[in-house]
Amino acid sequence: MNILVTGGTGFIGSHTVVELIKAGHRVVILDNLSNSKELVLGRISRVLELEGIKNADLPFYMVDIRDREGLAAMFEAEPVFDCCIHFAGLKAVGESVLKPWEYYENNVYGTLVLVDEMRKAGCKSIIFSSSATVYGVPDFSPIPETAQKHAAMHPYGATKSMLEDILTDLHTADVKNGDENPWNVVILRYFNPIGAHRSGLIGEDPSGIPNNLMPYITQVAVGRLAKLGVFGNDYQTHDGTGVRDYIHVVDLAKGHVAALKAVEEKCGVEIFNLGTGVGYSVLDVVHAFEEANGIEIPYEIKPRRPGDIDSYYSNPAKAQEVLGWKAELDLVDMCRDSWNWQKNNPKGYI
Ligand code: NAD
Ligand code: UD1
Repeated sequence: MNILVTGGTGFIGSHTVVELIKAGHRVVILDNLSNSKELVLGRISRVLELEGIKNADLPFYMVDIRDREGLAAMFEAEPVFDCCIHFAGLKAVGESVLKPWEYYENNVYGTLVLVDEMRKAGCKSIIFSSSATVYGVPDFSPIPETAQKHAAMHPYGATKSMLEDILTDLHTADVKNGDENPWNVVILRYFNPIGAHRSGLIGEDPSGIPNNLMPYITQVAVGRLAKLGVFGNDYQTHDGTGVRDYIHVVDLAKGHVAALKAVEEKCGVEIFNLGTGVGYSVLDVVHAFEEANGIEIPYEIKPRRPGDIDSYYSNPAKAQEVLGWKAELDLVDMCRDSWNWQKNNPKGYI
């Protein structure tokens, strides 16, 4: 298929581009480079070479999804896309609380412009990067896709929840209007993506001090940060620290390739959790990292982080039943590959 990948130089996007090309798809990358670097394209090529694909064609447009003219020119220059995999967006939870307008404008308005230009260009299939955050404080775990969504806990979460609704409404309206070619919308709710490509050539490169657990751990391991703060050890979990469903980014990337099956089958609107179904605590991750890599991670217990909850993890059964996808890699793989990336790129992409 001919696939447009927005946000394709970012963490999840870059890994997904690799898996799409390996699976034989043609990929066009669009990114405004607000949270990534153009040199990622060269890294993707090197990963593909290691995978036996030489001189892969990687068309790239440095365009903002809010830029109508830039989008229209890109659609004009490219053959009609079969699907857009839409990663582009701002994703820092804390920042979204301080800059809500920027988050609504970039993520919500940006997606409105994107889908408008897509439909003008004859592409009405989208795979959207959503998040487990739309479940809010979930009623129970493992969480199936049918679980109630709860009020967003921050503007970032609100943008994901709103965009799920907006994209669903586009499909519903097409059906009501008797459109012969209604929108296909695949909503992927990611749990906690970590890890990196096995080669250590591409990975997660957060700007500033990391907010998320694994990049914090790897930066402690590489000596950029002194010690990990563990946010709370009095949660209702097996060791008192927060439990999450960590998923290897390469498994997650493959989930997008699998999701194209739903698009091909003209699925209408489908929602899938992408997780492993297994929950690990903060200390489980720390100890797994230490064991996998033979490096000690100094840590201290800190107060709870506002907005955190005890525990949540996915029920990933639907993705397996409908798409034939399931996560293959385990926590040891995630810890090994996160470290391999950080060790080879102590300062990230430079
Ligand atoms: P990332 O920041 O590494 O990648 C996002 C990319 O989008 C970046 O390259 C950035 O430059 C680009 N971008 C941002 N705004 C843009 C705009 N207006 N126009 C064009 N490009 C733009 O983030 P990621 O971790 O790869 O996440 C990808 C998607 O998955 C995001 O939508 C994010 O919200 C979602 N998601 C991520 C996680 C996670 O833990 N990483 C969890 C759930 C959902
Ligand atoms: C966070 C966001 C979530 C977002 C996801 C991916 C919050 C409340 N949630 O999820 O909306 O979709 O990132 O970007 O911000 N931890 C520490 N020390 C650290 C960092 C984290 O102990 O330095 C703990 C946390 O308290 C939590 C676990 O590690 O128990 C995972 O945290 P994190 O990686 O930030 O992910 P989430 O909070 O699950």
